[in-house]
Amino acid sequence: MQKIMIEGGHPLKGKVNISGAKNAALPVISSCLLTGGWHKIYNVPDLRDIQTIKKIMEGMGVTFREEGDALLINSENLNKYEAPYDLVRTMRASILLLGPLVARFGMARISLPGGCAIGARPVNLHLKALSSMGVDMFLENGYINARTDGIKGAEIFFDIPTVTGTENIMMAAVKAKGETIINNAAKEPEISDLAHILRKMGADIEGEGTDTIIIRGKDELHPAEHEVIPDRIEAGTFMIAATMAKGDIEIAGCRREDLYSVIEKVRAVGAVVDINENGVSIKGPDIIEGVDIKTMPFPGFPTDLQAQFMAMMSIAKGSSVITETIFENRFIHVSELKRMGADITINGNQAIVRGRKRLLSAPVMATDLRASASLVLAGLVAEDGLTEISRIYHLDRGYEKMEEKFRLLGANIWREVN
Ligand code: EPU
Repeated sequence: MQKIMIEGGHPLKGKVNISGAKNAALPVISSCLLTGGWHKIYNVPDLRDIQTIKKIMEGMGVTFREEGDALLINSENLNKYEAPYDLVRTMRASILLLGPLVARFGMARISLPGGCAIGARPVNLHLKALSSMGVDMFLENGYINARTDGIKGAEIFFDIPTVTGTENIMMAAVKAKGETIINNAAKEPEISDLAHILRKMGADIEGEGTDTIIIRGKDELHPAEHEVIPDRIEAGTFMIAATMAKGDIEIAGCRREDLYSVIEKVRAVGAVVDINENGVSIKGPDIIEGVDIKTMPFPGFPTDLQAQFMAMMSIAKGSSVITETIFENRFIHVSELKRMGADITINGNQAIVRGRKRLLSAPVMATDLRASASLVLAGLVAEDGLTEISRIYHLDRGYEKMEEKFRLLGANIWREVN
């Protein structure tokens, strides 16, 4: 069992480098199933979710190699089309393998992702869209069995703009016969990153980053070289941390265009943010003002930063209303923040946070990836002893060397293994 220990109260100073984006790297790596030959991917973060997708793909016969700072991927010898339950249950994004497998091989057997701490998170929209593209699917022993004699272009409308759903259909459509139009597509930067690598493979795609993506299928694609975009959620987490902990830090390697909604909100609470060529510099205020947020699809405020923002609002002046519109159960961090003295009331999909002068350290438990990050941030400002965060395997799914990065900024944070 590993734990993170934090002695709060140390101001953050210095520079932090942002890693490659988990949620961009996962579809990019999955897209390498679309054609054999060596793909070369840069800026892949070293995370548990990346190990998981590699393990699943290795089980299918895909070869991975490291060369300098690049990850080389070759699916030439793929001979199994299955993503097993014991791995899929640890990472729902495994569903991203379905689109490329059916597109290239006409078959796939993917365990249906089970329940999830942050909400029901069904994949019905992925399946409905694939079915309209000529893929037959049936559920057997908890697995989605998918077969097609040839994937066909189709006009798709997503009821909800789903991120991995849009990615799955993009990967299926690049090899389909004819044209696919995805209406009400997700517009997240990770979608655009996927479109970029697919285009480098020879795909014909337009409209990524808007709500209509048009893809004309191609028979042949070829391997590509690609650099994964920086992680906007990691960057946003450090921005919130600096704002909370009277920081004065430079966040290097992030892209301003991915972070406007977050920059706007940390400015509103009192932080001074300077945008420069390398990223952003941020200086936290003496007094944090209470500000409301509502999570929205991109370019709105990301649900993946809601828990971290809530930790910040726990020590703000005044009250804040936090409305979660993406996932129905993404407030599980609330009870842990309350153990540290936060004053939060949940009312449906809204949390009312009444700012307190201080948070107090306590033993707490991480419940999901972003909830873990919110507890780390709370720990960085907590008074009176040590904050001890258990179940940090959640954190390792999506943050690369988080405690090391905070330590370099002057925080007193370490990992204990027992
Ligand atoms: N939804 C459906 N049916 C579907 C698909 C989605 O009802 O078939 C619903 C979901 O239940 C949710 C909403 O649509 O209420 C949006 O979900 P979406 O499909 O966009 O989420 P996702 O693709 O499963 C990705 C990220 C999440 C991030 C969300 C929202 C990856 C690998 N995961 O999930 O990241 O929170 O988009 O931005 O890209 C994280 O990194 O911590 C994380 C959870």
